[in-house]
Amino acid sequence: NRFDVVIAVDGPAASGKGTIARALAAHFGLPHMDTGSLYRAVGFAVLRAGGDPADAALATACARTLDVKMLDDPALRESTTARAASVVSAHPEVRAALLECQQAFARQPGGAVLDGRDIGTVIAPDADLKIFVTASLDVRAKRRQAETPERDYAVVRANLAERDARDSGRDAAPLRQADDSILLDTSDMDRETAIARAIALAEARLAEKAGLR
Ligand code: CDP
Ligand code: CDP
Repeated sequence: NRFDVVIAVDGPAASGKGTIARALAAHFGLPHMDTGSLYRAVGFAVLRAGGDPADAALATACARTLDVKMLDDPALRESTTARAASVVSAHPEVRAALLECQQAFARQPGGAVLDGRDIGTVIAPDADLKIFVTASLDVRAKRRQAETPERDYAVVRANLAERDARDSGRDAAPLRQADDSILLDTSDMDRETAIARAIALAEARLAEKAGLR
């Protein structure tokens, strides 16, 4: 790439945003940040301390002392951690504590791909490309359930619905589609089709950007 490229990928739980963000990063040789893992790490730290994720002071203290070595701990993928993440992420002080590292990542020379809930709206409002990935609740629950076959489909679905409602309903950086984002509904797309579509969108946007120079 001859200029910095910042790509924001947002969407609800299990929409496939991580899959798409990783594929875009690999395709363009850009670094990728899964911002959900930051909130999961905070939620997990609160639970490990025996605390309540609704406790804003404790959650904020955990966010300020976040250990980056935690970020690829398999415990972060558990549904109890996901729920704690969505509770701690509603505290504005927690979001503020995590803002700088995300913005620094987005602004690094060459650019970056970030996925989350508020990348296009708050973290990188000037991103070159914003993709809002979505899929029906049933499809998303099926995908997440397939990753954890021991879990019951109805429970997985209810957990996703609860988290979506909390993420969309909060006052601090709620989940919403940025006005200048492109909607990618993957309900009827397999992984490969969704990835190919996202790469095509990104290539078109970069060609447009190059043409403006
Ligand atoms: O992968 P999945 O969509 O299930 O979850 P995630 O992206 O790892 O995010 C876990 C939780 O962190 C979400 O339910 C949100 O509450 C929160 N989150 C957020 O508030 N803002 C972000 N940029 C990313 C995640
Ligand atoms: O990051 P997010 O929680 O939005 O979703 P993900 O972890 O990228 O994708 C959730 C699951 O759905 C993964 O197992 C993907 O392989 C799968 N997936 C799919 O089956 N079809 C797609 N079009 C996208 C993802």
